[in-house]
Amino acid sequence: MRDDEDTGRALPERGLPAEQVLDDVRALRKGDRPTHGGRLFAYVYDPAVPGLDELAAAAHASSAHVNGLDPTAFPSLLAMENALVGAASRLLGGGTGTSAPDVVGSVTSGGTESLILAVKAARDARPDVAAPRIAVPVTAHAAFAKAAHYLRVALDPVPVDPVTLRPSAAAVAAAIGPDTVLVACSAPSYAHGVVDPVADIAAVADEAGVRCHVDACFGGWTLPWLRRLGEPVPPFDFAVAGVTSISVDLHKYAYAPKGVSVLLHRTPALRAPQFFAYADWPGYTMVNPVIASTRSGGPIAAAYATLRHLGEDGYLRLAAATRDAVAGLADAVRGTGGLRLLAEPESTVVCFTSTDPTLDLFVLVDELTARGWHTQPQLSYADLPASVHLTVTAAVAPRVAEFGPDLADAAAAARAAGPVKLPAELTALAATLTPDALTPELVAGLAAALGLGGPADGAGGFAPDATVNALLDAAPPALRERLLVEFVGLLQRPTY
Ligand SMILES: Cc1ncc(COP(=O)(O)O)c(C=O)c1O
Repeated sequence: MRDDEDTGRALPERGLPAEQVLDDVRALRKGDRPTHGGRLFAYVYDPAVPGLDELAAAAHASSAHVNGLDPTAFPSLLAMENALVGAASRLLGGGTGTSAPDVVGSVTSGGTESLILAVKAARDARPDVAAPRIAVPVTAHAAFAKAAHYLRVALDPVPVDPVTLRPSAAAVAAAIGPDTVLVACSAPSYAHGVVDPVADIAAVADEAGVRCHVDACFGGWTLPWLRRLGEPVPPFDFAVAGVTSISVDLHKYAYAPKGVSVLLHRTPALRAPQFFAYADWPGYTMVNPVIASTRSGGPIAAAYATLRHLGEDGYLRLAAATRDAVAGLADAVRGTGGLRLLAEPESTVVCFTSTDPTLDLFVLVDELTARGWHTQPQLSYADLPASVHLTVTAAVAPRVAEFGPDLADAAAAARAAGPVKLPAELTALAATLTPDALTPELVAGLAAALGLGGPADGAGGFAPDATVNALLDAAPPALRERLLVEFVGLLQRPTY
């Protein structure tokens, strides 16, 4: 193939010049949501600190080929991992003081891996329990369900109060049985940004002799700074006696590039069952604290550089900017007729719903997108209404003043457009179809009817709009899962 006929194939017949390859990547990136600029309220965490991306990229490059498989071969990586765990521990109630617990931890690839490992450690600490179970609030992150699924642990969902969006300690206690190996709670939850009553829940778990994991993946790096700024942050870390493990993602509010989370345990003994070791083969003895075996030093070095560059003063400043942005966005929601905050913001999330039947949230999301604001629609669940989620980071602060007028404008446009009207046969299908009856052919037909790109156009093109969200919203969770698995399957097709 000649260069001018290049179709973006990953393996061209003849290799291409570096500059051209980079241009291709940049061209592909143009179709993405904007990772910088404070207008994307999910997926990305942007502090808008000049030079930080370049610093992290340089640190990443310096360690990209270092292998975390063996900490004795690459002491640089061990040193950086231990420093990251130390920083997270000190921030979250561990440390070196005489009364501080002897916290240990591991660096993982992300929040999901941290949660899977917290569940694995709890499961393997109780070999006496044949059919282990975990008690998890319904508002906790879906990664707990994934952990339960992967590890063959049963998931006992704990209901939350529909107003406070928190589980009560009594509800957690009711979910604990003789086979419960772990209780979980969130600080804060992703969907609503609400901090669970960690002290009460940990006390109940402690009383039952069960581990208690605090999922602080999302906000564990922000809540301590907000507290220092004088915000009323309830106890949620190792200062709470019954808390046995905490996860905190550095690729979220520590503003490190993707691929870094920290899982902390109160004591080395609690961490021990997290490890996997295997010597019963002719190769090297494999000893893995985390799921991956070979893993790049890149994300770890990038996180190390990010933390050292920003420092405590930097994070405090960024938390103050984020807090102000949250307040400004929440005011914009309060000032827009027909919208209501689902929860009063207490961390870095603004989450709102519609109180006006003529104001369809999914249409509003599309109208906001058309105005350059990328928000995250959340489908209705049990007795919780559909909502719009905004993950707020420091980069949003300079944009806040523009959001209010655009929100009002988008709401007016959404009202004028009216709610999504699904074709009657689609609504009936969504309500009656069972996940098992959903064939790939049916989904392909549905995708075509909804104007979603399928395998035919190669590049996919799944852009869920209000119609898709309305359809998903009409479907029960099990059908939503199947529909989206099939849609993603349509997208993930090789290009030749
Ligand atoms: C509270 C919470 N836990 C866990 C996760 C999963 O993290 P990751 O996407 O890094 O696997 C998230 C992600 O948003 C989260 O908000």
